[in-house]
Amino acid sequence: MSQHLKSPVPFSPEVETIPEDEAETIAELNETMGKIRQTTYEHSGHAMRSVHAKSHGYLVGELTIEPGLAAEFAQGLFAGTGAHPVLMRFSTNPGDILDDKVSVPRGLAIKVLGADGPRLSGQGSTQDFVLANGPAFTVPTPKKFLQNLKLLAKTTDKGEGAKIALSATLQAVEKVVEAFGGKSSTLVSLGGHAETHVLGESYFSQAPLRFGDFIAKLSVVPISAGLTALTDQKVDLKDKPDGLRQAVVDFFSANGGQWAVKVQLCRDLEAMPIEDASVVWPEEDSPYVTVGTITVQPQSAWTEARAAAVDDGMMFSPWHGLQAHQPLGGVMRSRKLVYEKSAEFRAARLGRPMEEPSAFTGLPS
Ligand code: HEM
Repeated sequence: MSQHLKSPVPFSPEVETIPEDEAETIAELNETMGKIRQTTYEHSGHAMRSVHAKSHGYLVGELTIEPGLAAEFAQGLFAGTGAHPVLMRFSTNPGDILDDKVSVPRGLAIKVLGADGPRLSGQGSTQDFVLANGPAFTVPTPKKFLQNLKLLAKTTDKGEGAKIALSATLQAVEKVVEAFGGKSSTLVSLGGHAETHVLGESYFSQAPLRFGDFIAKLSVVPISAGLTALTDQKVDLKDKPDGLRQAVVDFFSANGGQWAVKVQLCRDLEAMPIEDASVVWPEEDSPYVTVGTITVQPQSAWTEARAAAVDDGMMFSPWHGLQAHQPLGGVMRSRKLVYEKSAEFRAARLGRPMEEPSAFTGLPS
C-alpha cells in the first residue's frame, strides 16, 4: 500500500457511540416498517419484505478470495483462501411492487456460504452483505431515517399512476441537480433515479462494518466487459412494468459476469466517521482495494421457483455473519431488530421458516 496513507484505525468497541434514545428510535422504525408490510400484505395477500420487496434477479455463483492480500486486507472472511458459493439478490427499495417506471434506488443482497468462525447471529455458516447503489446512506442516523420513512410509509400502495408521473418529473429535476454538480438523495429515493440497468451499478455497504482487526466500508463493482458496458445504460421501460427484471434475465441467458469485492479501510475517524452513515469516505485518503471476485455463469436469473426460494424462504441481514464483520454505527445497529421482525412477519404469514442455506441446490433454473 502507498506510503502516504495513514495506518488503518484498529477496531475496538469504543469506536461506536450509542445515543441514549436509540432503543426508542429502533422501536419506532420497526413499527413504521410494520405498517408498510401490513399494508402490502392486506392488499396483495402475500407477505413481502417491508422494503426492497421487488426482486429483479437471483444469481448463484462463486466468490474467490484474492490471493496474496496484504495483512490489513486479509481479515475476517478474506483471511481465508479459496472459493465460497454465493447467492446474489437484486432489488429496488420500496416495500410495494411498483412499475419499474417508478425509478428508485437499487439494492444487492449477497449470501456467502462456508464463512466459518465466531458468529454474530443467524444459524449456519453464512455471511451476508446487504448493499445499495450509492457510496453512502441518504441520512446520517437512524433517527433522521425514521423521519423520511414515516413520510414514505404513507405512500405505500397508493396511486401508482401518480408515482410514475412524479418519477418522470423527479428524474428530470435530478438531471438538472446533477448538471450543477449535485445529487439529491431525497429526489432519487422518491423516483428520481435514472432508469439504469441494475447490472451496471456498483453497490456499497454505505455504512461501516468491522473488518477483522480494522473497520471498513465494502463495495461490489462490475468488472467483466459485458457488465461494465451496462453502466449508466438506460433500460427501455415503456409499457414494461418488470423491464428491469427482464433485462437481467436477458443478459444472463447468454452471458456470465464478474464483480470485484472491494473494501475501503477507515484510516481516520474524523474524515471517515462511524456514526454518520451519510459521509462518503474520501478515496484519496483510503482507496477501495479488491479483496475478492464474484463469478457467475449464464443462468435463468429470475424464475417463479427462484422467487419462491429466495423472496419467501430467505432473509438477508448485515447481522447474519461473522463477529469479524460486525456492522457498526447507528444505522447498522438499528437494522438488527428491524430485519429480524420483517423476516418473522414473512415467515409467520407464509407458513415457512426462514432458513440459512448450507448449499444453493434448492434454486432451480
Ligand atoms: C436504519 C436503516 C435501515 C433499516 C431500518 C432497514 C430496513 C430494512 C428491512 C426491514 C428490510 C427487509 C428485511 C426482510 O424482510 O428480510 C431491508 C432490506 C434491505 N435493505 Fe435495509 N434498512 C436500512 C438500511 C439499509 C442500508 C444502509 C442498505 C444498503 C446499503 C440497505 C439495503 C437493503 C437491501 C438491499 C435489502 C433487501 C435485502 C434482501 O434482498 O433480502 N438497507 N431493510
